[in-house]
Amino acid sequence: MQIKGNISLKEFNTFGIEVSAKYFASFRSERMLQELLSQRLLSIYTPLILGGGSNILFTKDVDTIVMKNEIEGIELISQDEDYFYVKAGAGVNWHSFVMYCLDHNYAGVENLALIPGNVGATPMQNIGAYGVEIKEVFHSLEAMHIKDKALVVMSNKDCSFGYRESIFKHKYKNQFVITSVTYKLKKEVEFNISYGSVAKELEMMGVKELSIRSVAQAVINIRSSKLPNPKIIGNAGSFFKNPEISLAQYEELKIKFPSIVGYTTEKDNVKIAAGWLIEQCGWKGFREGDVGCHEKQALVLVNFAKATGAGIYNLSERIIESVFQQFQIRLEREVNIY
Ligand code: EPU
Repeated sequence: MQIKGNISLKEFNTFGIEVSAKYFASFRSERMLQELLSQRLLSIYTPLILGGGSNILFTKDVDTIVMKNEIEGIELISQDEDYFYVKAGAGVNWHSFVMYCLDHNYAGVENLALIPGNVGATPMQNIGAYGVEIKEVFHSLEAMHIKDKALVVMSNKDCSFGYRESIFKHKYKNQFVITSVTYKLKKEVEFNISYGSVAKELEMMGVKELSIRSVAQAVINIRSSKLPNPKIIGNAGSFFKNPEISLAQYEELKIKFPSIVGYTTEKDNVKIAAGWLIEQCGWKGFREGDVGCHEKQALVLVNFAKATGAGIYNLSERIIESVFQQFQIRLEREVNIY
């Protein structure tokens, strides 16, 4: 097992920020991970575990060991009357997993096509799009404790999923390495096309009879038309979360800003489209040097070429401040800041 020194992380983060890691190693199995965690260096440094690098903004060089999860493999482990239980290595690219499910007729993840990142990150932040969140198809995961190197199994309940939230962002932060995730995929399809433009896109595609493949294709079309491809323009998807406010605050805002976009939540609060708030403050399409706010989706901050993480972070501060000034709503970042 090789631990390298002073490695550029540009290729390992979808923002394409040029920073370096003091040490860097990758692992392709649980055994390799265990060996790596037993190295002397690990008694000095807390590792930074990296998957697809699609939800992190590096604002400085990394003064510890970066460990890249490259555990591959997809396996049908069991099935019952209603479900296929499919286990995937944490290092499997998420979109290839979705494609695998389409090929095998495993339903439930078609709305989540084209989300950047790897399997291991899906429970970490309960990824979601077009009316579906990972917690709905998540069965369990295996994770290795960084200090005692024991492998544990966690159920859906153990993960405390919320909107872009899980126990791994709080109580278990930096304590576990997720090694695999088992999903519970449906045999009988239940289509969910009620979100925004999905039904409209299917109609435009001329789809007469729904299939998981056509729904995935509709999602791919919508995402490709709105979201920048990180291989061309550096970004990490939505930079902020959609904030939740009280119904009373929403109704007050609605009087002043009749076009405000909000959706009632289960808790009778209102989730506001952060993209709308940011656009109203005039940031959509903003560019200063290589730092910018995407012209088609204001929720996405971008690196046009050589932006620094600090530059992107500063823009996010300015956006938070101006949204607060105008709407008295404080946006929270979705992306992890290092
Ligand atoms: N909107 C604007 N201006 C903008 C962007 C959005 O006015 O610049 C308004 C529009 O009215 C639009 C509404 O906001 O109809 C919702 O926009 P969109 O459908 O693009 O979804 P979103 O709420 O902005 C969330 C997720 C995305 C996910 C989409 C689709 C969060 C933080 N983001 O964005 O997730 O793809 O819904 O489900 O919840 C990600 O997490 O990285 C991500 C891309």
